[in-house]
Amino acid sequence: MTMEVLANLEEIVERAKLLLLQAIKQKKGDIFSLVVAGGSTPKPLYEALAKEKLDGSQLHIFWGDERYVPPTDPQSNQKMVKEAWLDRVNLPAANIHPMPTYFASPAEAAMEYQRHLESFFALTPPAFPVFDFVLLGMGDDGHTASLFPHTEALRVTDRWVTVGQKDNQPRLTLTVPVLNNAKQIVFLVSGASKQQALQAVLAPTGDNYQYPARLIKGNVLWLVDRAAFGKNE
Ligand code: 6PG
Repeated sequence: MTMEVLANLEEIVERAKLLLLQAIKQKKGDIFSLVVAGGSTPKPLYEALAKEKLDGSQLHIFWGDERYVPPTDPQSNQKMVKEAWLDRVNLPAANIHPMPTYFASPAEAAMEYQRHLESFFALTPPAFPVFDFVLLGMGDDGHTASLFPHTEALRVTDRWVTVGQKDNQPRLTLTVPVLNNAKQIVFLVSGASKQQALQAVLAPTGDNYQYPARLIKGNVLWLVDRAAFGKNE
Protein backbone atom coordinates (compact mmCIF):
# COMPACT_ATOMS: atom_id res chain seq x y z
CA MET A 1 0.00 0.00 0.00
CA THR A 2 1.33 3.44 -0.83
CA MET A 3 -0.13 6.83 -0.03
CA GLU A 4 0.31 10.30 -1.46
CA VAL A 5 -0.85 13.31 0.57
CA LEU A 6 -1.83 16.09 -1.82
CA ALA A 7 -2.93 19.66 -1.18
CA ASN A 8 -6.55 19.32 -2.18
CA LEU A 9 -9.12 17.48 -4.30
CA GLU A 10 -7.95 19.30 -7.42
CA GLU A 11 -4.48 17.79 -7.01
CA ILE A 12 -5.96 14.36 -6.27
CA VAL A 13 -7.93 14.55 -9.50
CA GLU A 14 -4.88 15.60 -11.54
CA ARG A 15 -2.77 12.80 -10.08
CA ALA A 16 -5.46 10.14 -10.56
CA LYS A 17 -6.05 11.26 -14.14
CA LEU A 18 -2.32 11.06 -14.92
CA LEU A 19 -2.01 7.58 -13.40
CA LEU A 20 -5.06 6.34 -15.29
CA LEU A 21 -3.93 7.79 -18.63
CA GLN A 22 -0.47 6.26 -18.12
CA ALA A 23 -1.98 2.86 -17.30
CA ILE A 24 -4.21 2.97 -20.39
CA LYS A 25 -1.23 3.92 -22.57
CA GLN A 26 0.83 1.02 -21.17
CA LYS A 27 -1.76 -1.43 -22.51
CA LYS A 28 -0.92 -0.25 -26.04
CA GLY A 29 -4.40 -0.54 -27.49
CA ASP A 30 -5.32 -3.79 -25.72
CA ILE A 31 -8.61 -3.87 -23.82
CA PHE A 32 -8.43 -1.82 -20.62
CA SER A 33 -11.00 -2.51 -17.91
CA LEU A 34 -11.68 0.42 -15.56
CA VAL A 35 -13.95 0.21 -12.50
CA VAL A 36 -15.44 3.58 -11.58
CA ALA A 37 -16.50 4.70 -8.12
CA GLY A 38 -19.69 6.49 -7.22
CA GLY A 39 -20.28 9.24 -4.70
CA SER A 40 -19.14 12.85 -5.08
CA THR A 41 -15.34 12.79 -4.76
CA PRO A 42 -14.54 11.23 -8.15
CA LYS A 43 -16.98 13.45 -10.11
CA PRO A 44 -14.36 16.13 -11.01
CA LEU A 45 -12.08 13.33 -12.21
CA TYR A 46 -14.76 12.13 -14.61
CA GLU A 47 -15.32 15.71 -15.76
CA ALA A 48 -11.57 16.05 -16.41
CA LEU A 49 -11.50 12.73 -18.31
CA ALA A 50 -14.30 14.03 -20.54
CA LYS A 51 -11.77 16.55 -21.91
CA GLU A 52 -9.21 13.83 -22.74
CA LYS A 53 -8.89 12.13 -26.12
CA LEU A 54 -9.16 8.44 -25.25
CA ASP A 55 -9.04 5.45 -27.58
CA GLY A 56 -12.65 4.35 -27.17
CA SER A 57 -12.05 0.94 -28.72
CA GLN A 58 -9.84 -0.25 -25.86
CA LEU A 59 -11.50 1.30 -22.82
CA HIS A 60 -14.27 -0.62 -21.03
CA ILE A 61 -16.04 0.95 -18.05
CA PHE A 62 -17.53 -1.04 -15.17
CA TRP A 63 -19.06 0.12 -11.90
CA GLY A 64 -17.72 -0.87 -8.48
CA ASP A 65 -21.13 -0.40 -6.94
CA GLU A 66 -24.58 0.94 -7.60
CA ARG A 67 -27.52 2.14 -5.58
CA TYR A 68 -30.52 -0.05 -6.43
CA VAL A 69 -32.44 2.73 -8.16
CA PRO A 70 -33.33 3.44 -11.81
CA PRO A 71 -30.55 5.02 -13.91
CA THR A 72 -32.65 8.19 -14.03
CA ASP A 73 -32.63 8.54 -10.25
CA PRO A 74 -30.42 11.34 -8.83
CA GLN A 75 -28.91 8.70 -6.52
CA SER A 76 -27.71 6.59 -9.47
CA ASN A 77 -23.93 6.17 -9.85
CA GLN A 78 -24.54 5.24 -13.49
CA LYS A 79 -26.29 8.59 -14.00
CA MET A 80 -23.51 10.53 -12.26
CA VAL A 81 -20.67 8.97 -14.30
CA LYS A 82 -22.55 9.27 -17.58
CA GLU A 83 -23.44 12.94 -17.03
CA ALA A 84 -19.94 13.88 -15.83
CA TRP A 85 -18.05 11.88 -18.48
CA LEU A 86 -19.50 9.19 -20.70
CA ASP A 87 -22.30 11.21 -22.29
CA ARG A 88 -19.66 13.76 -23.31
CA VAL A 89 -17.36 11.33 -25.18
CA ASN A 90 -18.01 8.88 -27.98
CA LEU A 91 -17.17 5.65 -26.18
CA PRO A 92 -19.13 2.81 -27.87
CA ALA A 93 -22.19 1.80 -25.82
CA ALA A 94 -20.84 -1.78 -25.82
CA ASN A 95 -17.86 -0.53 -23.79
CA ILE A 96 -20.03 0.84 -21.01
CA HIS A 97 -21.13 -1.80 -18.50
CA PRO A 98 -23.43 -0.32 -15.85
CA MET A 99 -24.82 -2.51 -13.07
CA PRO A 100 -28.45 -3.44 -13.88
CA THR A 101 -31.07 -2.13 -11.45
CA TYR A 102 -34.21 -3.21 -13.31
CA PHE A 103 -34.55 -6.74 -11.89
CA ALA A 104 -37.28 -7.56 -9.36
CA SER A 105 -34.59 -8.20 -6.75
CA PRO A 106 -31.08 -6.86 -6.20
CA ALA A 107 -29.93 -10.48 -5.79
CA GLU A 108 -31.06 -11.28 -9.34
CA ALA A 109 -29.32 -8.13 -10.60
CA ALA A 110 -26.10 -9.12 -8.85
CA MET A 111 -26.24 -12.55 -10.51
CA GLU A 112 -26.84 -10.94 -13.90
CA TYR A 113 -23.88 -8.60 -13.52
CA GLN A 114 -21.72 -11.52 -12.50
CA ARG A 115 -22.86 -13.42 -15.60
CA HIS A 116 -22.00 -10.34 -17.68
CA LEU A 117 -18.53 -10.14 -16.15
CA GLU A 118 -17.95 -13.89 -16.62
CA SER A 119 -18.76 -13.51 -20.29
CA PHE A 120 -16.59 -10.39 -20.71
CA PHE A 121 -13.57 -11.94 -18.98
CA ALA A 122 -14.30 -15.47 -20.35
CA LEU A 123 -13.81 -16.70 -16.79
CA THR A 124 -15.93 -18.43 -14.15
CA PRO A 125 -15.54 -18.90 -10.40
CA PRO A 126 -13.49 -19.99 -8.54
CA ALA A 127 -11.32 -17.75 -10.74
CA PHE A 128 -11.59 -13.99 -10.22
CA PRO A 129 -11.43 -11.31 -12.95
CA VAL A 130 -8.43 -8.99 -13.10
CA PHE A 131 -9.55 -5.41 -13.66
CA ASP A 132 -6.80 -3.14 -14.93
CA PHE A 133 -7.70 -0.17 -12.75
CA VAL A 134 -10.16 0.27 -9.89
CA LEU A 135 -11.20 3.67 -8.54
CA LEU A 136 -12.59 3.64 -5.01
CA GLY A 137 -13.87 6.23 -2.57
CA MET A 138 -14.23 5.91 1.18
CA GLY A 139 -17.12 7.00 3.31
CA ASP A 140 -16.84 8.82 6.66
CA ASP A 141 -17.59 5.42 8.23
CA GLY A 142 -14.75 3.67 6.40
CA HIS A 143 -16.94 1.87 3.85
CA THR A 144 -15.87 1.54 0.25
CA ALA A 145 -17.90 0.64 -2.83
CA SER A 146 -21.08 -0.63 -1.18
CA LEU A 147 -19.22 -2.66 1.41
CA PHE A 148 -20.70 -1.16 4.57
CA PRO A 149 -19.68 -1.88 8.18
CA HIS A 150 -20.84 -5.19 9.63
CA THR A 151 -22.81 -6.23 6.56
CA GLU A 152 -22.92 -9.69 4.95
CA ALA A 153 -21.37 -8.35 1.75
CA LEU A 154 -18.03 -8.07 3.53
CA ARG A 155 -17.87 -11.83 3.92
CA VAL A 156 -18.82 -12.84 0.36
CA THR A 157 -15.71 -14.43 -1.13
CA ASP A 158 -17.17 -17.00 -3.55
CA ARG A 159 -18.92 -14.53 -5.85
CA TRP A 160 -17.85 -11.52 -7.87
CA VAL A 161 -20.93 -9.37 -7.31
CA THR A 162 -23.21 -9.26 -4.29
CA VAL A 163 -25.90 -7.19 -2.61
CA GLY A 164 -24.69 -4.47 -0.27
CA GLN A 165 -26.83 -2.77 2.32
CA LYS A 166 -26.66 0.85 3.42
CA ASP A 167 -29.16 1.18 6.30
CA ASN A 168 -32.20 -0.26 4.52
CA GLN A 169 -31.16 0.78 1.01
CA PRO A 170 -30.05 -2.17 -1.13
CA ARG A 171 -26.98 -1.72 -3.29
CA LEU A 172 -24.98 -3.81 -5.77
CA THR A 173 -21.25 -4.12 -5.17
CA LEU A 174 -18.19 -5.90 -6.44
CA THR A 175 -16.88 -8.18 -3.72
CA VAL A 176 -13.64 -7.84 -1.76
CA PRO A 177 -11.74 -10.59 -3.63
CA VAL A 178 -12.65 -9.07 -7.00
CA LEU A 179 -11.52 -5.60 -5.97
CA ASN A 180 -8.30 -6.98 -4.44
CA ASN A 181 -7.52 -8.91 -7.63
CA ALA A 182 -7.17 -5.72 -9.68
CA LYS A 183 -3.85 -4.72 -11.18
CA GLN A 184 -4.12 -1.24 -9.64
CA ILE A 185 -6.50 0.16 -7.01
CA VAL A 186 -6.61 3.92 -6.38
CA PHE A 187 -8.55 5.41 -3.49
CA LEU A 188 -9.60 9.06 -3.77
CA VAL A 189 -10.17 10.55 -0.31
CA SER A 190 -10.78 14.22 0.31
CA GLY A 191 -12.01 16.34 3.20
CA ALA A 192 -11.73 16.60 6.97
CA SER A 193 -14.81 14.43 7.46
CA LYS A 194 -12.77 11.42 6.33
CA GLN A 195 -9.96 11.96 8.86
CA GLN A 196 -11.10 9.60 11.62
CA ALA A 197 -12.02 6.77 9.25
CA LEU A 198 -8.80 7.20 7.25
CA GLN A 199 -6.69 6.87 10.38
CA ALA A 200 -8.65 3.77 11.43
CA VAL A 201 -8.37 2.22 7.96
CA LEU A 202 -4.63 2.87 7.63
CA ALA A 203 -3.76 1.84 11.21
CA PRO A 204 -1.61 -1.32 11.38
CA THR A 205 -4.34 -3.11 13.35
CA GLY A 206 -8.07 -2.56 13.61
CA ASP A 207 -11.53 -3.97 13.00
CA ASN A 208 -11.90 -4.75 9.30
CA TYR A 209 -15.64 -5.18 9.66
CA GLN A 210 -16.04 -1.81 11.35
CA TYR A 211 -13.86 -0.16 8.72
CA PRO A 212 -14.40 -2.20 5.53
CA ALA A 213 -11.86 -0.26 3.45
CA ARG A 214 -9.27 -2.14 5.56
CA LEU A 215 -10.26 -5.25 3.62
CA ILE A 216 -8.92 -3.78 0.38
CA LYS A 217 -5.42 -5.13 -0.15
CA GLY A 218 -3.10 -5.56 -3.10
CA ASN A 219 -1.62 -2.90 -5.35
CA VAL A 220 -3.33 -0.04 -3.51
CA LEU A 221 -2.52 3.64 -3.83
CA TRP A 222 -4.23 6.10 -1.51
CA LEU A 223 -4.56 9.61 -2.96
CA VAL A 224 -5.63 11.72 0.00
CA ASP A 225 -5.65 15.44 0.64
CA ARG A 226 -4.22 17.19 3.69
CA ALA A 227 -7.72 17.77 5.11
CA ALA A 228 -8.45 14.04 5.10
CA PHE A 229 -4.97 13.14 6.34
CA GLY A 230 -5.24 15.66 9.17
CA LYS A 231 -2.51 18.00 8.01
CA ASN A 232 -4.49 21.21 7.65
CA GLU A 233 -1.42 23.41 7.84
C1 6PG B 1 -21.25 5.25 -3.49
C2 6PG B 1 -19.78 5.02 -3.56
C3 6PG B 1 -19.25 5.05 -2.17
C4 6PG B 1 -18.43 6.31 -2.08
C5 6PG B 1 -18.18 6.70 -0.66
C6 6PG B 1 -17.53 8.07 -0.59
O1 6PG B 1 -21.99 4.58 -4.20
O2 6PG B 1 -21.60 6.17 -2.74
O3 6PG B 1 -19.35 4.04 -4.30
O4 6PG B 1 -18.49 3.96 -1.78
O5 6PG B 1 -17.19 6.10 -2.76
O6 6PG B 1 -19.45 6.75 -0.02
O7 6PG B 1 -18.43 8.99 -1.14
P1 6PG B 1 -18.01 10.51 -1.36
O8 6PG B 1 -16.94 10.50 -2.40
O9 6PG B 1 -19.28 11.18 -1.83
O10 6PG B 1 -17.51 11.04 -0.03
